[in-house]
Amino acid sequence: MYSIAVLPCDGVGPEVTAEGLKVLDAAATKYDVKYELTEYDIGGDRYLRTGEVLPSSVMEELGQCDAIYLGAVGHPDVPTGILEKGILLALRFSLDQYINLRPVKLYPGVQTPLRDKGPEDIDFIVIRENTEGLYVGMGGIMKKDTPDEVALQTAIYTRKGTERIIRYAYDLTRKRNKDNKLTLVDKANVLTYGHDLWQRTFAQVGQEYPDIQQDHAFVDAACMWFVKNPEWFDVIVTCNMFGDIITDLGAMIQGGMGVAASGNINPDGVSMFEPIHGSAPKYTGKNVICPVAAICAAGMMMEHLGEVEAGQAIENAVIAALASGKLGDLSTKSGVKTTQAGDLIAGLVE
Ligand code: IPM
Ligand code: MN
Repeated sequence: MYSIAVLPCDGVGPEVTAEGLKVLDAAATKYDVKYELTEYDIGGDRYLRTGEVLPSSVMEELGQCDAIYLGAVGHPDVPTGILEKGILLALRFSLDQYINLRPVKLYPGVQTPLRDKGPEDIDFIVIRENTEGLYVGMGGIMKKDTPDEVALQTAIYTRKGTERIIRYAYDLTRKRNKDNKLTLVDKANVLTYGHDLWQRTFAQVGQEYPDIQQDHAFVDAACMWFVKNPEWFDVIVTCNMFGDIITDLGAMIQGGMGVAASGNINPDGVSMFEPIHGSAPKYTGKNVICPVAAICAAGMMMEHLGEVEAGQAIENAVIAALASGKLGDLSTKSGVKTTQAGDLIAGLVE
């Protein structure tokens, strides 16, 4: 019996997690996976009501569960950063989910804006470091709102943090066994301290993986290759900030924010699964958001828990639904309701 914490949070989060849970239920029934769900009321509404972001009692319980399923964080009436840092980043950091796994995979039947590219060209995984870099919140502001204002925002890269994510990336590249190629994406030509550490660690750890080809791209060039030659990529490892940016681009080439899922992984602790899209306030309650990303995140959660058949069944149902053309263009204008998409995919679980 798995205990799964559900954090629908803000905006369209509750709508897409409901569909993810619908499909999860279908797959779990089929493959006899037993779980109990505990839903937590956190997010912008609670903050506005009570001033609480992530109460320590909730944090403690989350630390005890088997996995966390999250919707989306961000509320138009809450100042930027409070919920992002107080919920999402707080969970990633305190549960030490140092791997952010973001597959970029174009499924058959899904439109990519890249002319002449198809599913055989767009199939790679971005491994984003998830606990360090510019996200640590080191810095401050001096002389605020004066002409002499100074703002500092410092990136932190540790040897331990860099090494563990790079090692995970090599292992995953080997396990995936596609092109056996790992690309380090950095900006070592400018970040000559932080990304020098990344480059040296990448080469050193790479000595233990003679079967894996070591590849490199500067982050600006990587953006160009994502569009021009996405087929060059197999697995990418990169820092927190660049991983954030390039996976929005990745989501676009795989068919949009509606399909891009992710896992925040701590191999020795509690991991968290979520669509990479945000809370999309203007679509809240309209039943128009594509739930495929959240559904795929539920599939990743099953695989992570070792329920590979159930996870595969969810992905296969998504693939069948997308190939059927019944999900339209996956945009908010597709005419397909969020709930209809969930029903269709749940019905295709076999
Ligand atoms: C993501 C999001 C978050 C991030 C935000 C909401 C803090 O953009 O998961 O990619 O920057 O990591
Ligand atoms: Mn992002």
